[in-house]
Amino acid sequence: MPNFQAAIEVIRADITKLDVDAIVNAANTSLLGGGGVDGAIHRAAGLGLLADCRTLGGCATGDAKITRGHDLPARFVIHAVGPVWHGGTFDEDRLLASCYSTALRLAQEHELSSIAFPAISCGVYHFPVERAARLAVRTIREILPTCSGIKRVILVAFDARVEDALRSALDESV
Ligand code: APR
Repeated sequence: MPNFQAAIEVIRADITKLDVDAIVNAANTSLLGGGGVDGAIHRAAGLGLLADCRTLGGCATGDAKITRGHDLPARFVIHAVGPVWHGGTFDEDRLLASCYSTALRLAQEHELSSIAFPAISCGVYHFPVERAARLAVRTIREILPTCSGIKRVILVAFDARVEDALRSALDESV
């Protein structure tokens, strides 16, 4: 059944504070934590999250795995591994899109109705922000009709540049 009701919104926030079914982590292939949003999520979730992640055996770039949220307000964390930007000819676009589609499908499988994404790969992995924002919005719009349980998708910006890029991408997509 197509999903006509899903809302996609852009907010400026610290993703670790959001009371949603799942927040998405911009992780690395080890899933054992790092800096940026990965570090913030692990700090806020507590050591139980790391213990969970140790059982997952890592995660390939473009893929995503789910754990509980532990001490976070969010019930689950979906750990997605975005591509490092190498100029655009190393399959980066497809791998980044795959992070969003895989995370949405995982949320649907776990009957979650609200999910918040950070700007995956737009920090340490240096993916061009405007390009990533367009890819994210396009992929979410493509996949949502097949994820009838998801009612709310939040794109979380942590700085003004990402917020502007996400808002522009969303406005252009309607
Ligand atoms: N809430 C929301 N967004 C955040 C937060 C936060 N608390 N902290 C950082 N961000 C934003 C950054 O400003 C950036 O726009 O998340 C986006 C992704 O940046 P990174 O966290 O650097 O992630 P990424 O570029 O995907 O690099 C992943 O960095 O932290 C390591 O272990 C991680 O190796 C992996 C790599």
